[in-house]
Amino acid sequence: MMQILKLLAVLVYVLGMTWAADWCYKSQVSHNICKGPDEWKDIVPTCGSKNQSPVNIETKRVVINNLTPFSFQGYQHTFHSVITNNGHTVKVNVSDEAVISNAGLVGNYKAVEVHFHWGKNGGPGSEHTIDEEQYPMEMHIVHIKDKYNSVQEATKDPNGLAVLGFLYQESDTEDKKYGSIINALNIIKFPGNQTQLDSLSLAMLIPPLHNLTRYFRYKGSLTTPDCAEVVIWTVFENTIKLSKEQLKTFSSVWFKNGTALTETFRPVQPLNDRVIFYSGSHVASVSTALVISMLIITFYTV
Ligand SMILES: *[C@@H]1O[C@H](CO)[C@@H](O)[C@H](O)[C@H]1NC(C)=O
Ligand SMILES: *[C@@H]1O[C@H](CO)[C@@H](O)[C@H](O)[C@H]1NC(C)=O
Ligand SMILES: *[C@@H]1O[C@H](CO)[C@@H](O)[C@H](O)[C@H]1NC(C)=O
Ligand SMILES: *[C@@H]1O[C@H](CO)[C@@H](O)[C@H](O)[C@H]1NC(C)=O
Ligand SMILES: [Zn+2]
Repeated sequence: MMQILKLLAVLVYVLGMTWAADWCYKSQVSHNICKGPDEWKDIVPTCGSKNQSPVNIETKRVVINNLTPFSFQGYQHTFHSVITNNGHTVKVNVSDEAVISNAGLVGNYKAVEVHFHWGKNGGPGSEHTIDEEQYPMEMHIVHIKDKYNSVQEATKDPNGLAVLGFLYQESDTEDKKYGSIINALNIIKFPGNQTQLDSLSLAMLIPPLHNLTRYFRYKGSLTTPDCAEVVIWTVFENTIKLSKEQLKTFSSVWFKNGTALTETFRPVQPLNDRVIFYSGSHVASVSTALVISMLIITFYTV
């Protein structure tokens, strides 16, 4: 009898271990250690739900909407941060003085974290795709509604998070402003490693703010378990340019001792009934205003 009980206890324990298995990306799947994207829904049912991210953005089907530009506050403010390899990604903690508003958002959202998704040696690695094209990398600047104190708290609100997604493209020249992050990647090779960065502002990591008026918008989820459907997504049309060498360096961090952390993206999820909006009509109204003012100027000059 005792024997059977012991056996049962062992069985329950082993099953419990299986249920508690950690999640990982497809390139790291190893069945007794971690579950890949297709199995995330077995860890957290929400990952199999209807409004998941990322998605493919089909530009022919976007709905042009009167979405105004963002107001960026504190994006120029420099701060000291720590960069961490957490075994799933590389993340940078940021100053909550960086706040976004307007752009169809209700109220203010403060920045809490920056992290990256990348490929293998500079190959395809973005989460969102545009007309099925996958870019080499994608950065997420995660913001939460300013009344909340943590991402956990914000995920209880269906509009609790606003994530800004930036796509990268390969360029012939390196972006020196990324030097501090790229150099740190060699120091944080092992999961759990972290190091301090030189002072940094969010504006240093993204295209000029005036170049961010064109963007895609839809309602979706976190792209990692627990996949909570609480994110107002923005994906900017303008890309960030890094050299091949810089893009490749992201693949040098490790998932576990000796195994590179590569292809850290979730595959695109079905759009289902959702609509993707595009901030096009505002751009049109800006040029209309420009034409009108030019006509007036011409009129007065004549
Ligand atoms: C990031 O975290 C480190 C260590 O926890 C802390 O010293 C630093 O002030 C934080 N930086 C910001 C910008 O919050
Ligand atoms: C990185 O982590 C490894 C393994 O945990 C440890 O041996 C090493 O000292 C850490 N390095 C730094 C820079 O923290
Ligand atoms: C910013 O926009 C201007 C005008 O549209 C364009 O010429 C320039 O290349 C853009 N800069 C970047 C870094 O995308
Ligand atoms: C990583 O693996 C190597 C060789 O297998 C071993 O010598 C080293 O101690 C390991 N390092 C850590 C931090 O586990
Ligand atoms: Zn992300």
